[in-house]
Amino acid sequence: MTQMTKIRMGIVGAGTWGETHAYIYNDHPGAEVTAICDMNRERAAALAAKFNIPESGIFTDHREMLEHGDIDAVAIVTPDFAHTRIAVDSANAGKHFIIEKPLTTTREEALEIVEAVERNGVRMMVDLHSRWSPLFAIPKQSIVDGEIGEPYSAYYRLNDIKWVATDLLPWAAKSSILWFLGYHSVDVLRWLFNDEVERVYAVSREGVLKQEGVDTVDIYQTILEFRGGGIATMENGWITPNSNPNVNDMKLNITGTKGMFNIDPTHSQMMERFTETKADRPDMLVRHFIHGKPKGFAYESIRHFVDQLITGEPFFVTMEDGFNTTMVILAIMESAKTRTPVNVQYM
Ligand SMILES: NC(=O)c1ccc[n+]([C@@H]2O[C@H](COP(=O)([O-])OP(=O)(O)OC[C@H]3O[C@@H](n4cnc5c(N)ncnc54)[C@H](O)[C@@H]3O)[C@@H](O)[C@H]2O)c1
Repeated sequence: MTQMTKIRMGIVGAGTWGETHAYIYNDHPGAEVTAICDMNRERAAALAAKFNIPESGIFTDHREMLEHGDIDAVAIVTPDFAHTRIAVDSANAGKHFIIEKPLTTTREEALEIVEAVERNGVRMMVDLHSRWSPLFAIPKQSIVDGEIGEPYSAYYRLNDIKWVATDLLPWAAKSSILWFLGYHSVDVLRWLFNDEVERVYAVSREGVLKQEGVDTVDIYQTILEFRGGGIATMENGWITPNSNPNVNDMKLNITGTKGMFNIDPTHSQMMERFTETKADRPDMLVRHFIHGKPKGFAYESIRHFVDQLITGEPFFVTMEDGFNTTMVILAIMESAKTRTPVNVQYM
């Protein structure tokens, strides 16, 4: 595609993150949103109105959007369990797509997407946006430059406050904190170790969220063994008290053979806001607006998708990254259920 062509995007899923996507495409000089699809028509129409998309660009079925929409590429931003059909149908329609994490939630569906993408020769990227965060991109470069030697051991806690499971995601019980946050954790660790996970040992606990009416596991603690010998401990839960001033509670230590990184964005108190009713720490990293323009690493990854579609350069995140991360999460779930170490099954 030439620089002059605007990539026409169709967004499927007009929820919280679908809106985030719309802001980026709207802001990107090489892209525009031309279609919004949501099974809930009101939601599709509300997002379309916000971005001046005409009635003809509103859809309630992604297959109709693929057939009649004025689009070059698709953003798949439906709940975790509803990605596969849209991805496969998009590929079969010859449309490139960006798919929100997780790629999918079963091995069979992941294989189905890979097959459809390869058979149709379309381009796809999984939105593993942590790779655009300075919190991980700086350690990554340092590791590549040899400053901390070989990554040897890591501890990564990435939790959410309860509100995410009880209020933000109406479909939390149909997903898992592993798909929602653990997916980012696994991807970051794979990236920093530059290696694949061989075996996992996981333990989980449930009951706190069940008592609040959300039938999902509260928390997982997992040990990951990498093929090259590196080890990592990972925690993912969504029972952090709602009074935590950040939605995420994150800490990462990565120790190499010659040095280490300590990362603690949650409790660093770089900026605190106090009003008559609340105290919190405004997000300065993930997504925010400066002079009316969307900023933050969640925006950078989506911009990257458009940039690389325009230039034809490869995406920083490959389909294999999404596939392998899905396989690691499935192994963690099995390990927690069977209370045994599980070898990750890849292709
Ligand atoms: N990259 C990130 O860090 C990040 C952050 C938040 C959410 N997400 C991911 O984005 C996706 C959406 O999350 P959200 O918070 O926006 O959810 P949401 O519940 O706010 O919105 C999802 C929307 O999809 C619609 N929908 C469901 N099934 C559909 C279908 N088959 N066809 C058309 N529309 C359908 C729903 O009606 C809803 O409006 C999830 O996979 C989530 O994990 C990623």
